[in-house]
Amino acid sequence: MTSFELRQKFLDFFKKRGHKIVGSSSLVPDDESVLLTTAGMQQFTPELSGKIKSHYSRVCSVQKCFRTPDIEEVGDDTHHTFFEMLGNWSFGDYFKEEAVKWALEFLLNECKLDKEKLYITVFKGKNEIPKDKESIKIWQDNGIPNKRIFEFGMEDNFWGPAGEIGPCGPCSEIHYDKGRKFSKGKCSIKGCGPNCDCGRFVEIWNLVFMEYHKKIQNPKYKYILLPQKNVDTGIGFERLVAILQQKSSSYETDLFLPLIESIEKSSSTNHKLQTTNYRIIADHIRGSVFLIADGVLPSNVDRGYILRRILRRAIRHAKLLNLSKNWYADLIKEIISIYGIVYPEIKTKETDIITVIQDESEKFSKALAKGLKEFKTQAIKFKIIPGNIVFNLYQSYGFPLEMTKELAEEKGLKVDEKGFEKELKKHQEISRAGVKKKFGGGGEISPQLHTATHLLHQALRDVLGSNVKQMGSDINSERLRFDFSHSEKMTSEQMKKVEEIVNQKIKQNLIIIEKEMPLDEAIKSGALSFFKEKYPEIVKVYSIQDFSKEICAGPHVKKTGELGVFKIIKEQSSGAGIRRIKAVLSKKTSKTKF
Ligand code: ALA
Repeated sequence: MTSFELRQKFLDFFKKRGHKIVGSSSLVPDDESVLLTTAGMQQFTPELSGKIKSHYSRVCSVQKCFRTPDIEEVGDDTHHTFFEMLGNWSFGDYFKEEAVKWALEFLLNECKLDKEKLYITVFKGKNEIPKDKESIKIWQDNGIPNKRIFEFGMEDNFWGPAGEIGPCGPCSEIHYDKGRKFSKGKCSIKGCGPNCDCGRFVEIWNLVFMEYHKKIQNPKYKYILLPQKNVDTGIGFERLVAILQQKSSSYETDLFLPLIESIEKSSSTNHKLQTTNYRIIADHIRGSVFLIADGVLPSNVDRGYILRRILRRAIRHAKLLNLSKNWYADLIKEIISIYGIVYPEIKTKETDIITVIQDESEKFSKALAKGLKEFKTQAIKFKIIPGNIVFNLYQSYGFPLEMTKELAEEKGLKVDEKGFEKELKKHQEISRAGVKKKFGGGGEISPQLHTATHLLHQALRDVLGSNVKQMGSDINSERLRFDFSHSEKMTSEQMKKVEEIVNQKIKQNLIIIEKEMPLDEAIKSGALSFFKEKYPEIVKVYSIQDFSKEICAGPHVKKTGELGVFKIIKEQSSGAGIRRIKAVLSKKTSKTKF
């Protein structure tokens, strides 16, 4: 069965059983307490909590997910950063009986798996949450013998919440026995079973019986019963595809093989097919494509840093394989051709995706070569690389901690992580103090330049087209700096035209209106946004009459007439497909024409 067929089969199966098919939500969740979407249930948190009465009490989806705890395991047979989750939900509708019955029906009748190979785990109970005897009985009634039903505790068989608090509950997992030959000789048949890490068993479906809500109750947490009993399930899509395509690894399935082949084509050396390097590159670029399509850009914080870390790791592995210069271009095309039908956003954002990856690659490749030299001369002298050296690699050459760890491991060395964290903290304190000194806590940031930036942004779109998007902005007390997506150098006529438009709007003395509204509403109203990731739920929208409308934290002036004369002082490249403008405002003089 192809991966495409499997997604469809899953959705059809649950549609037939009264479920509404819901599209995947973004990898950037609405819930501010979590960085990325890690499970299919996240978009349904309000329904599961009983806060919202959904129009539908049964839904199913194929959800884009991203998890980071296993980032270092990527490259083995089963781990990924980005992955897809097939799920079905009941919001206070059906419960354990139907969830178990349908899961079995789907795996046995639609996927044609052998029942004998299915092993089940259930919750054995802890404190106020009792053992899930009900599920044990249901599995038995559905023909799973006791010897294939295993009991585990909180860590394995209690799921959620996705953030710190929220809906959660005991779960029952279906594991698949790949056979003894996969246990890599590590296990005797006795004692080996689901959750053994020998490689023989793989978890394919998690059925969560969500009837609790985890709340903070000082000094600890408390589990209280939800007003309704819910079902939340999740199939690890890549794993099930591997089983159905009879591959020992998801990297050998139709989801990855074309990606691996594309990387192989870019390689001039004769590496063996499907080495760890290939897998890391394929996984990390696939993840990057999806993150960028959902509005994440590389940065040094939060989601932006997750993206930067995986991109830089992929770039290093590409260098190790000596891949041709634009190795990522073909790979991105291949990713889009496999996934674009299911997730059209990666197709529509293709240019942005290539631009961002190209930019990060150009930025980092030079630093990488220098940093590797530094590593060879400095770090390699130690058995445990000291924190200040690890920090220097991070600060001066952009090496994420885990990259230095990976490099160290390759040489049989260790890294002083605590020492690194200490150096990082020290540095952050120094730079915070510096910023405070420079801006007196933000007081000197010029509202005039902020407003001028909005005028510039719109003027650029008027002159160069609506493809122009803000990629960065920096304002100090003297000048504004504005980075935007545009592939060519601006002509002097274009710059003149932009200046003219901005100065005309200043002359018109337009009123700036500030309005607070929910982010969704702001985006719907056509307000230009920068990085979705940076916005809270309620945002400020600044409109300069009907000329410009942007989501922004401010501060701004009240009327454009307060700005003076706008002048572009420099237009230059700021990476592939990104231009940078520096501009100033000067006070009106008698020579001013308007
Ligand atoms: N929410 C459950 C999981 O992520 C289904 O495993």
